Amino acid sequence: MKFAQFLLKNGSAAGTPRLVDRFSKFSPSPLSMKQFIDFGSANACEKTSFVFLRQELPVRFANIMKEIDFLPDKLLSTPSLKLLLSWYSQSLMELVEFLEEDPYNQNVLKSFTRQLITIRDRHNNVMPTMAQGVLEYKDAFGVDPVTNQNVQYFLDRFYMNRISTRMLMNQHTLIFNGSVNPALPKHIGSIDPSCNVIEVIQDAYETSKLLCEQYYLTSPDMHITQVNAKQPGEPLNIVYVPSHLYHMLFELFKNAMRATVETHETSPHLPPIKVRVSLGSEDLTIKMSDRGGGVPLRKIERLFSYMYTTAPSPVHMDNSRNAPLAGFGYGLPISRLYARYFQGDLKLYSMEGHGTSAVIYLQALSSSSVERLPVFNKSVLRHYQASIEADDWCMPSKDPKKLGK
Ligand SMILES: Nc1ncnc2c1ncn2[C@@H]1O[C@H](COP(=O)(O)OP(=O)(O)OP(=O)(O)O)[C@@H](O)[C@H]1O
Ligand SMILES: [Mg+2]
Repeated sequence: MKFAQFLLKNGSAAGTPRLVDRFSKFSPSPLSMKQFIDFGSANACEKTSFVFLRQELPVRFANIMKEIDFLPDKLLSTPSLKLLLSWYSQSLMELVEFLEEDPYNQNVLKSFTRQLITIRDRHNNVMPTMAQGVLEYKDAFGVDPVTNQNVQYFLDRFYMNRISTRMLMNQHTLIFNGSVNPALPKHIGSIDPSCNVIEVIQDAYETSKLLCEQYYLTSPDMHITQVNAKQPGEPLNIVYVPSHLYHMLFELFKNAMRATVETHETSPHLPPIKVRVSLGSEDLTIKMSDRGGGVPLRKIERLFSYMYTTAPSPVHMDNSRNAPLAGFGYGLPISRLYARYFQGDLKLYSMEGHGTSAVIYLQALSSSSVERLPVFNKSVLRHYQASIEADDWCMPSKDPKKLGK
């Protein structure tokens, strides 16, 4: 048990491996959008939410902590990973302390909310810290296909787990801090029951445009077209977390703008970014098309890779507090996780020489928006233990001319 050994060696959290074993035996319970809304509606019950979270959060933490064990030893021993593991075990221990507490005691409920805020803040820099660890590993040992595959598999699950635990903690702290946000009275925590998709697109475009103009002194226009096949003429609204949608769109706009400006450096006119939104009975689809020169098919999968990122290494972090996030090349993979979190997806279709279309698929019906969560089990083990076997497709001959000789 690498993780257990690490904790024992470091003394501070000798009890955590047992906690991880105990709570990883449970599967996480995915919540639907409806359940999130019920937790926060008029008859919101802080006690019910507390009783759910004091069990569910340790289960989600423990499930992912089990998987951390399967990362390469040399990655686990980087200072970044050690720091990160210490945050996870500390938070797990703090949460478990509430299992014995009385849910009918108001002081317990108050201190639980405060504890969630402490935990959320402690984990603020998980992403750049993990990214830094992966970079250190890559610089020292290079990347091979098996490691890339395992790290990709792990990080997609690890970051998805993080998105979900932050969602749970945010909902509880936003709903039970005793006041309604006057700017967003309709919101239930971070969920907007009638999230206006076009408004979020416009917001994300404007912010990205500002950045683009600061950097390049110019920026492409945007053209939006919309189709509401479900209720013709009505605005395109869905039940969603606007900050998640904004995150995806902002990342896609930054990429589309950069590609557009850089491929049209010498021309006087920039082709606009075209956004088409359509609402059907199952899907809300957003397609963003640029004319930024495109990406060859061979490279598309790599754009979602955490290890084969094209971004240059960010400047050295002096401490974990002001670690950079931008520039790790995580824009696309993390946006895809946000889309998948509520059973949607994000795909890139490109025509090299012309441009790229990025498509975000979201569930149109809130009854189909259910959290998509990783769970630790035997299939996971099989995945990490898979080694490279002979390919079951022929490799092209390196020098076809020799074939005839
Ligand atoms: N619309 C696009 N047209 C052309 N290339 C693109 C487009 N979108 C993404 N790419 C390529 O994919 C790479 C990865 O994109 P991604 O957003 O994940 O990371 P990044 O933009 O390099 O860094 P970050 O977003 O973290 O600041 C980009 O560096 C770029 O080379
Ligand atoms: Mg980007």
